[in-house]
This record gives sequence, C-alpha cells and structure tokens, in this order.
Amino acid sequence: MQGVARNFFILAIIYALCGMLLGLVMSIGGDHTEMPVHAHIMVAGWLMSAVFAFFYHLFPVARASRLAPAHFWLTAVSGIALLVGLFFLLAGNPAIEPLVALGSIGFFAGMLLFAWIAIPATRAYQVQPAPAE
Ligand code: HEM
Ligand code: HEM
Repeated sequence: MQGVARNFFILAIIYALCGMLLGLVMSIGGDHTEMPVHAHIMVAGWLMSAVFAFFYHLFPVARASRLAPAHFWLTAVSGIALLVGLFFLLAGNPAIEPLVALGSIGFFAGMLLFAWIAIPATRAYQVQPAPAE
C-alpha cells in the first residue's frame, strides 16, 4: 500500500485499537454511556477508513488525484474532532457541542469529496478480463 491508501489503513488500525479498548472499558465497568462513541469509532472510523484504504489501493487513478490527500486530512481531522468531541459531550460537557457539529459537517463534506474522486475513478478503471479456463 502507498500514499493515501496506507495513511487510511494506519488510521483504521488506530481507530480499531481505540474503539475496542473503549468497548472493553465499557463492558468491564458496566457503564455504556459512551456506546455511540464506541459504535462510531468502530464503523465510521475503523470500517470506513479501511474501505477508503482498499479503494485507494485498488484504484491508482484515485490515489494519484491531487484531491486524495485533501480527502484523507478532511476525513481524519473532522472524524477525530467528531469522536473526541462526542466522548466529552456524553461525559457531561455540553459546551463541546459546536466541535461535534463542525466535526459532523466536515465528515460529511469528506464523504462528498470522496464521491467526487471515486465515482469518475471507477469509470476510468478497466478491470482485466479473467483468463479463460
Ligand atoms: C473488544 C471488542 C469489543 C467490545 C468489548 C465491544 C463492546 C461493546 C459494548 C459494551 C457495546 C454496548 C452495547 C449496548 O450498550 O447495547 C457495544 C456496542 C456496539 N459495538 Fe462493540 N465491542 C467490541 C468490538 C466491536 C467491533 C469490532 C465493532 C464493529 C466493527 C463494534 C461495533 C459496535 C456497534 C455498532 C455497537 C452499537 C450497537 C447498537 O446500536 O446497539 N464493536 N460494543
Ligand atoms: C456525519 C456523521 C454522522 C453523524 C452526525 C451521525 C449521527 C448519529 C446519530 C445521532 C445516531 C443516533 C444515536 C442514538 O440514538 O443514541 C447515530 C447512530 C448510529 N450511526 Fe451514525 N452518524 C454519522 C455517521 C455514521 C457513519 C458514517 C456510520 C457507519 C459507517 C454510522 C453508523 C451508526 C450506527 C451503527 C448507529 C447506531 C449505534 C448507536 O446508536 O450509536 N454513523 N448516528
């Protein structure tokens, strides 16, 4: 893996480790207040970053796009702001809500940017036909 693909894969692993650790803390402590944070770290963090990583790995045209690093940084920064903010919001700090709102909008904008990069790349890419049996 190279470039943005590798960055997303490393981000995915970090999310998985943090999210599972939070899941364990929740289970052991018997306090599930942070369940939405755990759920989003696991699916919006670990699973989505892994999907982005494999997409950029399989589609070199998308990886070469000058917008791809912008997609990585927007997704990483807004996702972390969203999840860290939500953690503190659910822990009882309502003042942090604007950060959660900004993070959510940034994360959505990141997905729009991905659609802009990825959909043309899938059209441009020619899959090699499977060899005849
Ligand atoms: C060390 C591993 C894990 C532990 C200890 C753990 C623990 C938990 C706990 C305690 C809850 C709260 C359940 C509740 O209050 O109803 C939960 C919910 C959840 N977990 Fe995990 N989890 C783990 C791994 C994962 C993984 C690998 C994923 C996904 C890739 C995941 C996705 C979710 C989701 C989506 C929810 C929310 C489910 C709902 O909406 O009811 N978890 N987990
Ligand atoms: C802009 C980003 C997002 C926002 C603002 C958002 C917001 C929310 C909200 C408000 C809930 C209901 C929580 C509750 O009732 O306690 C929720 C639940 C959930 N969302 Fe998201 N979401 C976002 C992105 C995603 C993404 C990208 C995924 C999956 C890849 C996802 C998966 C889930 C799941 C599995 C649940 C049910 C578990 C739970 O209750 O926490 N979300 N989300």
